Amino acid sequence: MRIAVFAGDGIGPEVTEQAVRVLEKLELPGLELVEGDVGGAAYYKHGHPLPAETLEIARSAKAILFGAVGDFSCDHLERHLRPEQAILGLRKELGLFANLRPAQVFAGLEDLTTLRPEVASKIDLLIVRELNGDVYFGEKGLRTLEDGRRQGWDMMSYAEDEVRRIAHVGFKAAMGRGKKLCSVDKANVLETSQLWRDVVIEVAKEYPEVELTHMYVDNAAMQLVKNPGQFDVIVTGNLFGDILSDQASMCVGSIGLLASASLAEGTYGLYEPIHGSAPDIAGKGLANPMATILSAAMLLRHSFGLEAEAARIEAAVARTLADGIKGGDLGGTAGTREIGDAVVERL
Ligand code: IPM
Ligand code: MG
Repeated sequence: MRIAVFAGDGIGPEVTEQAVRVLEKLELPGLELVEGDVGGAAYYKHGHPLPAETLEIARSAKAILFGAVGDFSCDHLERHLRPEQAILGLRKELGLFANLRPAQVFAGLEDLTTLRPEVASKIDLLIVRELNGDVYFGEKGLRTLEDGRRQGWDMMSYAEDEVRRIAHVGFKAAMGRGKKLCSVDKANVLETSQLWRDVVIEVAKEYPEVELTHMYVDNAAMQLVKNPGQFDVIVTGNLFGDILSDQASMCVGSIGLLASASLAEGTYGLYEPIHGSAPDIAGKGLANPMATILSAAMLLRHSFGLEAEAARIEAAVARTLADGIKGGDLGGTAGTREIGDAVVERL
């Protein structure tokens, strides 16, 4: 049970430390944790945000527990040296094409949402975001036009097989939940999206029990705040999924609780909190480690089939919250270590 632990930047190391304590507390047979450098931390140590030795550690493991990357002090660097390239590189190199970002309101935390509590309390959705394609990985550049103006450009594209495999993940996820799938695109404007929509409709034939709908991304953004309870599973491309998943996390109001999984074919996966490196509170022991702890639970479930252990962690987190132990992000006063202690105790 070799797990790579890539803590990264900002609050990454603090929150990851607590998730590691939780994993160790379970005394899983064969558990082996191997640390590696990523992000700005790796750049300062090795000159690259995703050093070869880190990639090697990732390849030698069965799953990755990831903290966060992002460091303002690297903003001046060339794009390929910026911290974000660590996560983008891991996604691409390891074929992590399916990003699962669940969002639901935790009982007792309805007041934290910026939506009306009666609207937000209905949120129980899963965003399935494609991670290996789209405008993220297309050709890009900066050129000078004939009249001397500079122009930045990024190519958006999806090949049909890329759409098909993420569509299958979306339909399968829907089969395991409320059997509703909403495919989000911008087919009224983009060719990429028209193909996306056509392929999703083809794949739907294999899942007659799932109710498939299509929504333009602008409307989806609106519906997410108007009536988020209508969604069960949303499947969408890389860029739209990036935006909508942040929006969904704020609709629940507790970004410090939201975990995510990025899966390859098979059981390999990378698991990370969705909150990012939060440089403003880094190193102060204030960050809420719950999203990382919940990511560790997802890791046990998806990559190792350890459903009971995953559920134990989730129950311990829920219990901690129910006992009123909350981080600053949830309006509480508990620090990183204190929350880790509380979860470990409740395990
Ligand atoms: C995310 C992040 C990344 C993304 C960044 C850090 C490159 O925003 O995981 O959502 O855009 O995918
Ligand atoms: Mg994002």
